[in-house]
Amino acid sequence: AAGDPAAGEKIFLKCRACHQVGETAKNAVGPKLNGLFGRTAGSIEGYSYSAANKNSGITWDEATFRDYIRAPQAKIPGTKMVFPGLKPDQEIDDVVAFLKQFDAD
Ligand code: HEM
Repeated sequence: AAGDPAAGEKIFLKCRACHQVGETAKNAVGPKLNGLFGRTAGSIEGYSYSAANKNSGITWDEATFRDYIRAPQAKIPGTKMVFPGLKPDQEIDDVVAFLKQFDAD
């Protein structure tokens, strides 16, 4: 189904403990998520990634992000993101629609 950015903002509360996004976003437990789609994994300056993430060779697009957020440890074995995965797929659709609103800074 089509993603709903407003619903996605609520789903993003599950991510907020570790990630910021938006104009004033800073790196925290996890990297800031501005401009996610189109960027190379592990490329936010000033954030200390795991080797697993940094060397994953992934470019974040809708397909790779969906795989990842459904099962982070399966997509990037050894990632230090401790998150079991997002479901159902509607929640992923909504989070994608939410995150697409934020360009790279
Ligand atoms: C990495 C998204 C929840 C901690 C990442 C990356 C994405 C992401 C896309 C890779 C970023 C990059 O390569 O620049 C999300 C989303 C979440 C979520 C959408 C919610 C649905 C969480 C939570 C935590 C967390 C709850 C902390 C408990 C991290 C950490 C990394 C990371 C530490 C760096 C991984 C590494 O270097 O191995 N996250 N995340 N994330 N996330 Fe999350």
